Amino acid sequence: MKLPSFFEADRALIDAALGQLLPPEDARPSTIHAAMRYSVFAGGKRIRPILCLESARIFTEKLDVAIHAACALEFIHTYSLIHDDLPALDNDDLRRGKPTNHKVFGEAMAILAGDGLLTLAFEALANAPADAGSRVRAIAEVAAAAGTVNGMVGGQVADVEAGGKPVSAEMLEYIHRSKTAALIRGAIVAGAILGGASDEDTGRLSRFGEAIGLAFQVVDDILDIEESSLALGKTAQKDLAQQKATYPALYGLEKSRVIAADLEAKAMRELDYFCERASRLRQLSEYLIARRS
Ligand code: FPP
Ligand code: MG
Repeated sequence: MKLPSFFEADRALIDAALGQLLPPEDARPSTIHAAMRYSVFAGGKRIRPILCLESARIFTEKLDVAIHAACALEFIHTYSLIHDDLPALDNDDLRRGKPTNHKVFGEAMAILAGDGLLTLAFEALANAPADAGSRVRAIAEVAAAAGTVNGMVGGQVADVEAGGKPVSAEMLEYIHRSKTAALIRGAIVAGAILGGASDEDTGRLSRFGEAIGLAFQVVDDILDIEESSLALGKTAQKDLAQQKATYPALYGLEKSRVIAADLEAKAMRELDYFCERASRLRQLSEYLIARRS
């Protein structure tokens, strides 16, 4: 299962912009810039930036208004993976089929590379070539999505604290919504805002993002069990080994697949209103649920 081919153009646009926004490798101090570039260009699928661009495309043809935000989302995502792989968190040696950042650059530099990427994300967003009002709203959305209250860091805290203990269905949903769905929703909402969407349309895309983001993490849980490390590019069957709070652990594989499909249907219903204009987001959603890595 590959991304529909027209996303290749998005990916090329994103990769070029990421390369320009990241400091060059020889900028002093060069070690951290090499470490930041190593993980940003380690082979990520660019799902969050593509969602951001495609959400903006519903409202504008001038995609350059959203490209900085798209890159900001990838910087934040990459920082979260670098920190997640650290010995103090998941302690992983493999990410996207390559040695993790701390395995190559050492723990101190991996922590700092994450810090650098998170900071760069907001510099990029602040410099987006969009009107100041939309820019500020997009910054607020992305900051909240990455933050502690129903955002990525909060979800990660709950995930760490839930390890090895039985969790309730409510807690599991809170963890997945915060840890993963919030940033995916943030990518989609930032794209809509910068593209010039009305508040009503932004609300529709926000609900779409929340449902598809949660479905994405449920599928991630399923793939951790069903796929090999080679296919995933990261250590497979790690959730079970670390007694992580996951959908298959609580509901079993069969029910988890049904939950993912129901969430996908819920997400798709939010797109009905946009008719043909949302066809790329629809195809992207189908890919996110059917993917095998
Ligand atoms: C895979 O995305 C990533 C996830 C499913 C997100 C998991 C969330 C965390 C690790 C939160 C960590 C937070 C902190 C603060 C440490 P993907 O399949 O798009 O990966 P790709 O970019 O490699 O394609
Ligand atoms: Mg993890």
